[in-house]
Amino acid sequence: MSINKNINESMDKIMDKNVKNVINGLIRDYTCGQLRTQNIGESVTLCGWVNKNRDLGGLQFIDIRDKYGLTQLSFANYKGDLNILKQISLESVIKVKGSVSARPKEALNTKMPTGEIEVLVEEVVILSKAKEPPFLPNSMTQATEELKLKYRYLDLRNKNLQDIITLRSNTAQKVRNFLIDCGFVEVETPILYKSTPEGARDYVVPSRVHPGRVYALPQSPQTLKQLLMIANTDKYFQLCRCFRDEDLRADRQPEFTQVDIEVSFLTQDYIKNLIESMMKMLFTVPSNFVLPVMDYKVAMEYFGSDKPDLRFSLPQINITDLFATSAFTNLQEVAAVVATASEGKGLIKAIFIPKSMGELSRKDADALKDVVAPFGLNGVYYFKVAGTAIAGATERSGGISKFIDGNIYQQIVERLRKAEEELQHFYSIFGHTNHSKNANGAASEEGMWFIVAHKNADATHASADVLRRALAQKFSIIKDFYAFLWVNNFPLFEYDQKEGRFYAKHHPFTAPHHLDEEKFFSNDHKLLSECRAEAYDLVCNGYELGGGSLRIFNPSMQEKMFQLLGLSEEQIKNQFGFFVEALQYGTPPHGGVALGLDRLIMLLCKSDNIRDVIAFPKTTSATDLMAQSPSAPSAAQIAELHFKWEN
Ligand code: AMO
Repeated sequence: MSINKNINESMDKIMDKNVKNVINGLIRDYTCGQLRTQNIGESVTLCGWVNKNRDLGGLQFIDIRDKYGLTQLSFANYKGDLNILKQISLESVIKVKGSVSARPKEALNTKMPTGEIEVLVEEVVILSKAKEPPFLPNSMTQATEELKLKYRYLDLRNKNLQDIITLRSNTAQKVRNFLIDCGFVEVETPILYKSTPEGARDYVVPSRVHPGRVYALPQSPQTLKQLLMIANTDKYFQLCRCFRDEDLRADRQPEFTQVDIEVSFLTQDYIKNLIESMMKMLFTVPSNFVLPVMDYKVAMEYFGSDKPDLRFSLPQINITDLFATSAFTNLQEVAAVVATASEGKGLIKAIFIPKSMGELSRKDADALKDVVAPFGLNGVYYFKVAGTAIAGATERSGGISKFIDGNIYQQIVERLRKAEEELQHFYSIFGHTNHSKNANGAASEEGMWFIVAHKNADATHASADVLRRALAQKFSIIKDFYAFLWVNNFPLFEYDQKEGRFYAKHHPFTAPHHLDEEKFFSNDHKLLSECRAEAYDLVCNGYELGGGSLRIFNPSMQEKMFQLLGLSEEQIKNQFGFFVEALQYGTPPHGGVALGLDRLIMLLCKSDNIRDVIAFPKTTSATDLMAQSPSAPSAAQIAELHFKWEN
């Protein structure tokens, strides 16, 4: 994990503002990162943890550490009993009084901000003696992730993690200031509430006063922020905690924080412009930064994902139809894909890696099967191309080359050229070069093609996405910048084949696209499947950083939506009756967005695990290893909450 410049800059500000000036009432008068040569001769009191304790042939030193840094303490002039040092175990908290002195030349440490001085200790007090910790916060020896989470308070002593917590606090403050400057008000909404559908399961809290009833913790304050628009709040925001019982991943936690936003009387452009300015304020981006807009269809077609990572190019092309009569279908797996292609199910996609990026050995290419296995694919097909088309002498070899005849090959190449032409706008924003042409504009086709196929198009898209990322990593072509995207025109519904019903792709309050309202009211399955939504996502470096939509503000449209999602009249009344009623008392057109604050901080500090940016995170099985939570309720709680408990 590397921490960027932002953190150090904000740390300096904190040092200036809060530490230097506000010291009355503290039992120390400097931090351990503060003393410099201009302090030489001063009598000072420092407090902190013992980072290192060493005896250099009779000369005793301790490095004392706090959040702000390290200072070397020398006991050369100490008049007390040096035996006290033997009692000072690592990680004990001590207070020392002494004078600041220049270090001897041979002991200067230019890598340490306090490396030109040391404190000659006159008095030392052990404030809290530490027993041997299970691991040392700044040590090079690796503790397991489980151990670190169990002793999170020790891991948090690590400077990196403290810096991230500070960055998080500063970022939250910047976001608040920004939104307040734009005329927003922060409104707190209830945590003990009712089910708010965002596609996950609810965490529920049984009620003591109402036997057999539960509150649900909000998956997001979606209905509440819409009610605030009906209530004339006009511009709402909240840094709010959300709770979702869902499968966890490196960028998901069961409780997380959103920067939640809702606005009345707006168009999608308002939200886009607002988020664009906010990102410009928070991230290092070019001064002429604008959020590039990508249609959902384009994202899926060329990147197999609604959150494509555009720090590198490597588009995918759909080549399914090219194999309708090819011997490639002799392979049983491919035959099944091609057979279902006409129903829009089977899909074959290809990715080209030009030779200039690198080549994979047969062994490495075969090993790519592990990358796609989670999606049910048996492997990745490939073939190599040598020679140039200009010389009219491309030669295909290896892998499935025997199935790629001249005609099929020409069409594959042509599709890549077309894809790159369509993506030109994004290529020029992100500084990518075309791989369907070389620098002189002449075709350079040398390289390797990788192909994935599955009879379920979603599985092909997903495996093409991970394959694309894995290849980019393998060939080290991921550039170091923030590739933001505004993806819009999402489908309104997702159809669940197994359950034979529609689900809302974003959530049930999202308005159908203004050009697709007829489809929405058509009652025709095919038209409903094609219906787009007024929904959008903020994407950065392959992460979904935020999502939002314009909302349904017409009560009968909202009821229609619930019906299309398979809710009975009874269910609509019980779950959303209050909301549908509220829509009937004069509702402004409104819309909004929610950004994941944790993911935003992850990106800012270039971490790839959400746990790094949360002070007390949970494991992927939603447990808190430190507090051992969740835990069994006491007998008294079971009785009070009126539930039956089976062990
Ligand atoms: P959505 O469900 O897309 O939209 O969530 C918005 C953003 O919240 C973050 N996020 C998460 N972060 C960490 N852990 C999780 N489990 C998790 N789930 C979501 C993501 C995501 O983009 N109410 C709507 C917003 C709206 O329509 O205005 C909503 O919650 O960064």
